[in-house]
Amino acid sequence: MKKIDAVYFEKRANEALHRIKQEDKDFYHIIEDIVNHPTVRQMMQYRQHYDTSTFEHCLHVSYMSYRFCKKHHLDYVSMARAAMLHDLFLYDWRKKQRDVEIDGLHAFAHPKIALKNASQIFKLNEKEKDIIAKHMWPVTLPLPRYKESFIITFADKYSALKESLDYYLRRKC
Ligand SMILES: [Fe+2]
Ligand SMILES: [Fe+2]
Repeated sequence: MKKIDAVYFEKRANEALHRIKQEDKDFYHIIEDIVNHPTVRQMMQYRQHYDTSTFEHCLHVSYMSYRFCKKHHLDYVSMARAAMLHDLFLYDWRKKQRDVEIDGLHAFAHPKIALKNASQIFKLNEKEKDIIAKHMWPVTLPLPRYKESFIITFADKYSALKESLDYYLRRKC
């Protein structure tokens, strides 16, 4: 098992980004300014699920949601951009002592924090705001307003499950 630290997360996230850039240039161009922003790249420092950083998790969710929307003639640009920002909360949610004060439990609070952080650095449209704010539905109650906001609720949960399973399967090898 490799040592899991910020260097490991950054290396893995950059490798995943490089793979996606080679595989799908159209997708990469849509999120290029986001993934190269220093605030967004800070997500590489935080663990999301097991050995996956928050950055890599957002990239997985973004690419999966993008492909689904493109296939079904939905707004794949807003989908890809908002999904890349959906967990921009910038703290280690596992730690009781956090760098930032949060209002309530992480599961309920982090979509609002991510939206606030994302809005400070990017001009978001109404759909992008809704995608970020509602991505935890139905844990958070307000109903998603757009099809794309529903799609992220599934892509996010699927990615979390896959990232966890992949970790256990790699450990068994
Ligand atoms: Fe989240
Ligand atoms: Fe997420």
